[in-house]
Amino acid sequence: MKKTKIKRILSKKNKSPIICLTAYSKAMAQLADKYCDIILVGDSLGMVLYGMKTTKEVKIETMILHCKTVKNFTKKSLVVFDMPYRTYTNKFIAYKNARKVMKLTKCDAVKLEGGKKIVNIIKYLVKKKIPVVGHVGLLPQTSNNFRVKGKNFFQRKKILDDAVEISNSGVFAIVLECVVEDLAKIITKNVSVPTIGIGASKYCDGQILVTDDMLGLSDFSPKFVKQYSNLKKVAEKSIKNYANDVKLRKFPTNKNVYK
Ligand code: KIV
Repeated sequence: MKKTKIKRILSKKNKSPIICLTAYSKAMAQLADKYCDIILVGDSLGMVLYGMKTTKEVKIETMILHCKTVKNFTKKSLVVFDMPYRTYTNKFIAYKNARKVMKLTKCDAVKLEGGKKIVNIIKYLVKKKIPVVGHVGLLPQTSNNFRVKGKNFFQRKKILDDAVEISNSGVFAIVLECVVEDLAKIITKNVSVPTIGIGASKYCDGQILVTDDMLGLSDFSPKFVKQYSNLKKVAEKSIKNYANDVKLRKFPTNKNVYK
């Protein structure tokens, strides 16, 4: 089953766009599963759900809890577990943690941030039959600022080299985060696996967004996020109406009472 899902993702390269979103909960998993090829349980949950300043503080146990729920309520999409900061500092630690995560959550793959530096870790996980998604460009776990990547020659060369190296090391997809359009296009042409862009242009093989951002639930709205709704506004209106109803004893009504 896992293999079939991965094959399906690989077969979409240069053919049809791969649709991906993040999910951390039952409700979002159920909704995303209807329309997405991949659901990522991203460590972005640290900032989005828990109000942390960076993703560095996210614990593997927290990720496991959320991923178990997402996987339980996902029928068809491929579920990816985002390995948190410092859980893959060498290949043995990475394998110990990834094996635990796969066993406890039944997810389909893990995602690791980094390029050349982590090639031996990726190769080891793949050898041990753990499917891996790579992640290059802006790397939130190690970056101190939120800046678009690929604006100068050295950065461009490094990101392209990183992408090519991890592609050759066995990942089955690569997240390209916040890189300039022409670099995303070159990378997508030069790697054999699908690229999934976030702030990386239409030239990637697929797209991912943090669901809370595109629904207008978070306060994060950089240029690359298209806000498809403003759920925060909708929720606030409902909460305000509820508060007024309680104050004026308009709620509960007869309809809401057991007799
Ligand atoms: O943690 C996350 O949600 C991610 C996406 C931004 C790709 O890594």
